[in-house]
Amino acid sequence: MAKPKVFVTRLIPDKGLQLVREFCEADIWPDELPPSRDIILERVRGVDGILSLLTDKMDAAVMDAAGPDLKVISNYAVGYDNIDIPEATKRGIPVGNTPGILTDTTADFAFALLMAAARRIVEGDNYTRAGKWKTWGPQLLLGADVHRATLGLVGFGRIGKAMAKRALGFEMKVLYYDPVKPDDPEAEALRAQSVDLDTVLRESDFVSIHTPLNDQTYHLISTDALGKMKPGAILINTARGPVVDPGALYHALQDGEIGMAALDVTEPEPIPADSPLLELDNIIIAPHIASASRATRDKMAQMAADNLLAGLKGNPLPTCVNPEVYA
Ligand code: DGY
Repeated sequence: MAKPKVFVTRLIPDKGLQLVREFCEADIWPDELPPSRDIILERVRGVDGILSLLTDKMDAAVMDAAGPDLKVISNYAVGYDNIDIPEATKRGIPVGNTPGILTDTTADFAFALLMAAARRIVEGDNYTRAGKWKTWGPQLLLGADVHRATLGLVGFGRIGKAMAKRALGFEMKVLYYDPVKPDDPEAEALRAQSVDLDTVLRESDFVSIHTPLNDQTYHLISTDALGKMKPGAILINTARGPVVDPGALYHALQDGEIGMAALDVTEPEPIPADSPLLELDNIIIAPHIASASRATRDKMAQMAADNLLAGLKGNPLPTCVNPEVYA
């Protein structure tokens, strides 16, 4: 029997790729950079399945180009804002993602950013490498304490809760804002208190974003929101870049309205080399690597392959974003 045809938009770790190669006639995009829109539209023609990355827009045009055989789209990410879910659902195409397995790895990184920003670790390293370390200085690179500070979480899903868990060890006070589940039953054990967004912004020393990107969260962290934060506060974003308005952030950092920002995600991605944000000293910017541990990326590859293969066989996806397709 002929193997199903799939397009894989990048070289994911072997754990997943081997499975895909074994069971499919796989067209795998080999470059480090993502395939262009035109290439995607061409390469998906006639496929049974697509394994996509968060860099690839999967919309009606791609689904049209793939044609009627398209049975599944499997995203190698927990976030799926690159995919037009209503459009896939309308066509009965299940969409898979990779939830759960990257929670702790991402929270580790978000907490690392928080610590690095608070204690000015990147600035310290730059200072040393630049040959500026001449003596022990009583006022040298003074930062903010993390222990017993207030952490405000915008979004209290899996990763937000994993942050709260880490904050317990630092005896932090944890506030969270989550309009979807304001009374989360797990909050008590994590000693996290549900409040409104304004309270998170006004009372937190650290504000960490853990919300998906959608119409409600696009530029949620605006000039107005940043203006409500404490003067020395630190903003951490490991969710999606467009949750924070980059122009507003630039002004807030430059004018000292907030103390610092530590971002793993930007709008757009990658951040343009001439972005004014890159001129500032009080910002750390990582290249969207919060889930990038070897073990987690292997698990993501395996899960993305499992979703793809299940969809090709007509079985329910192990982790499906739009289970209503099975109704
Ligand atoms: C995701 O999975 O959505 C992350 O942004 C990348 O791992």
